Parts: sequence; structure tokens; C-alpha cells
Amino acid sequence: MKYLLIIYCSSLLIFSSSLAQEKSKNESILSGSEIYIDFCIRCHLANGEGVKGTIPPLKKSDYLLKSIDKSIAGLKYGLKGKIEVNNIIYDGIMINQGLDNEEIADVMNYILNQWGNESEEIITPSRVSKVSKSILK
Ligand code: HEC
Repeated sequence: MKYLLIIYCSSLLIFSSSLAQEKSKNESILSGSEIYIDFCIRCHLANGEGVKGTIPPLKKSDYLLKSIDKSIAGLKYGLKGKIEVNNIIYDGIMINQGLDNEEIADVMNYILNQWGNESEEIITPSRVSKVSKSILK
């Protein structure tokens, strides 16, 4: 009986520690795909190509792939004013979408690995929490 109790308690411990663990990259991408549909698709579209001259693309976007922290900051604080994406200047406004750090990490992992985009990086909520607004200046 005592042994059963020990087994029960240790399996509870293992279970709860696995809950506290961070999501894997694939789990994060999967959550990110749902966030994309809810918050981003209406502007950046299902194919990630945006609208030329008005809404910048995410597919093969040099801005996104080379300036990951700036992209995070844009999602965290909103983005406005001139930016250059694949040699085209955009001067629009993207308001803050009201996502928390985990949601931003998930949607970043999704857009960094969708439409032929590839990234070695795994964006975590803790990285998102460290990105400050001043990086956009
Ligand atoms: C209302 C339309 C709109 C929505 C919704 C929107 N964006 Fe944007 N997004 C824009 C515009 C416009 C810009 C360019 C802003 C500028 O010109 O400074 C932009 C810029 C970006 C950029 C940086 C430029 C690039 O193309 O690489 C990223 C990354 C981005 N958006 C991702 C997202 C993600 C992820 C979501 C959903 C969480 C989202 N956006 C929701 C309109 C939108």
C-alpha cells in the first residue's frame, strides 16, 4: 500500500512538472496558426502576401526574418510609420492586437515557419517580455 502511494505521488509530480514546461516549437506553431486566423489573416491574408503597397507581406519578408525583435515589438506595441519590406516602402498603421507574451511568441513561431519561411529560432514568452518599444525608433 505504501509503495502504491509513493508511485501515485511521484507520477503526480511528473505530471505537474510536465504541465509547467514550455511548449515545444510545434505546439507553439499550432497555437500560433489559430491566433493568425483570429487576428492577422484579415490584413496579411491566408497566403501571407498582404496587399502590395498597403499591407506588407509576411511570406519571405526580409523585415520579419531579419528583424525578429522589431517584429515582436510591432506586435507588442503596434507599428506605424515608414518601414521597408522587400524593397517596398510601407507607411501604414498596425495597431497593437492586444495579445499577451505567449500569444505573440506563438504567432511569431507560426509566421516564421509558414509559407516557405524558415527560422532556426524558437520565440519564447520570456524573449517577448524582454523586447522594449525603443527598438522601433
Ligand atoms: C488592420 C490590419 C493589420 C492586422 C490585423 C495585422 N497587421 Fe501586421 N501590419 C499591418 C500594417 C499596415 C503593417 C505595416 C505598418 C507600417 O507601415 O509601419 C504591418 C506590419 C507587420 C509586420 C512587420 C512587417 C512585415 O511585413 O514583415 C509584421 C511581422 C506583422 N505586421 C505581423 C502581424 C501579425 C502576426 C498579426 C496578427 C497578430 C498582424 N500583423 C495583424 C497591418 C495589420
